[in-house]
Amino acid sequence: MDAQLRLPLVDALTEHIKRNPISFHVPGHKYGRIFPNSSGFFQAILQLDATELSGLDDLHAPDGVILEAEDLLTNLFQVKKSYFLVNGSTVGNLAMVMTGCSEDDIVLVQRNCHKSIINALQLAKATPIFIEPEYDPDGKVAAGVEVTTVNEALLLYPQAKAIILTYPNYYGMVYDLKGIIDVAHDRKIPVLVDEAHGAHFIVGGPFPKSAVSLGADIVVQSAHKTLPAMTMGSFLHFNSELLSNHKVKNNLEIFQSSSPSYPIMASLDIARHYLAAYREEDISYLLKKITEFKKQLKDISAIKVVDFHGDPLKITVQSRCRLNGFELQKELELRSIFPELADPNNVLFIFPLLKNGQEYLLEEAAAKIKRVLADLPFMEREVEYVMNEEKISRLAVSYQEMTRLTKKVISIEESAGHISAEQIIPYPPGIPLLLPGERITGQKLAQLQRLVELGARFHGGPFVKQGQIEVFHSYRT
Ligand SMILES: Cc1ncc(COP(=O)(O)O)c(C=O)c1O
Repeated sequence: MDAQLRLPLVDALTEHIKRNPISFHVPGHKYGRIFPNSSGFFQAILQLDATELSGLDDLHAPDGVILEAEDLLTNLFQVKKSYFLVNGSTVGNLAMVMTGCSEDDIVLVQRNCHKSIINALQLAKATPIFIEPEYDPDGKVAAGVEVTTVNEALLLYPQAKAIILTYPNYYGMVYDLKGIIDVAHDRKIPVLVDEAHGAHFIVGGPFPKSAVSLGADIVVQSAHKTLPAMTMGSFLHFNSELLSNHKVKNNLEIFQSSSPSYPIMASLDIARHYLAAYREEDISYLLKKITEFKKQLKDISAIKVVDFHGDPLKITVQSRCRLNGFELQKELELRSIFPELADPNNVLFIFPLLKNGQEYLLEEAAAKIKRVLADLPFMEREVEYVMNEEKISRLAVSYQEMTRLTKKVISIEESAGHISAEQIIPYPPGIPLLLPGERITGQKLAQLQRLVELGARFHGGPFVKQGQIEVFHSYRT
């Protein structure tokens, strides 16, 4: 039998349950025997919720079925070492960044990154140099970074210790990652990639190439986002000549729970098996289903299906009617269609990674979407967005200094010259306008005020709606 068709952890758990174990160990629900009756649907999961017992191995020091399951993953991705993560890509990013940089190290960072990357940089007390992404005019969102911008940044900061990128973005858009990896590796600089949305890329075309096959040093993937894995189930792949795997392992021990969830780990075993068993006929079937679904959506005049270079599993539809993206999402949810997210212009659907012959409620979904949008007349929408003028930027205050400063909330109007103590991310296009430690320039202030006037939505910046912003106390120039 093909080794990849094995399920070592799932099999060990199944055998364990068959023994009808009498638990005098954690967790306290005792395989669901001590659990409120009203939650009957929990029982099946609780049966799997074991702990580090004989035969079930230990995630932090694996030498049995967890090691076997991780070895199969390592083998599938053809890397030096793959790890199961039980705390999402969040923990993978923390471990990855803490492995790639230390205090005061200069690191190049794609600016539209997940907050876990920013948090990790702060923990590492590194010195990030931010690289502005390009704006995608069709999707009206921030996309990827250009090789030329990375080259410029490397000329300015040849001492950079790592490059931290996000590939693909939330909408599935990709860019010339290989070009950046080549440039970096020529200078012996490791490339760390948050591939949270691309765990399925390894199945091959028409999916974009995975950061793993493009030669990245460490890659973190949320298996739970696009594969059949439980929420929080993720992978970290180490494949570097420049970094230490020992450090990755140590960081994962620091950041991951000492009581990792067996249902999550077993679902990672299943997700790896699912990927390994994904065949050409599955890809053809999936593409046919995606094309059919998109065709139905393309018939609706109130929306436009956005075409872009990237992941076919991500379907972005843009409003062409009086409703903005958030309102479209609400209307769909009223009819029990739940998209992944909305922004002011778009609604994003994540298509299931179907296998040949597998059915999903696509006809029903398309019919419902048509019904919801049928009476909305076509209307071209104007969109304002903000891009930072600086392609390459850095913090005005180091993370070390930030820990020593106090904060205060002031009016946005008088904030020019102060140092922001919070992250303010306007949507669109999802590029941070301000990060903690960045100076609020006159230009940024004007952008922020314009966005507030327009009623833009922000991630972070809890005071912005009241015309206020949190800044570091003793800094003003
Ligand atoms: C780009 C990116 N990286 C990392 C994460 C964190 O992933 P997780 O939810 O698996 O912790 C997310 C979550 O949405 C994300 O979008």
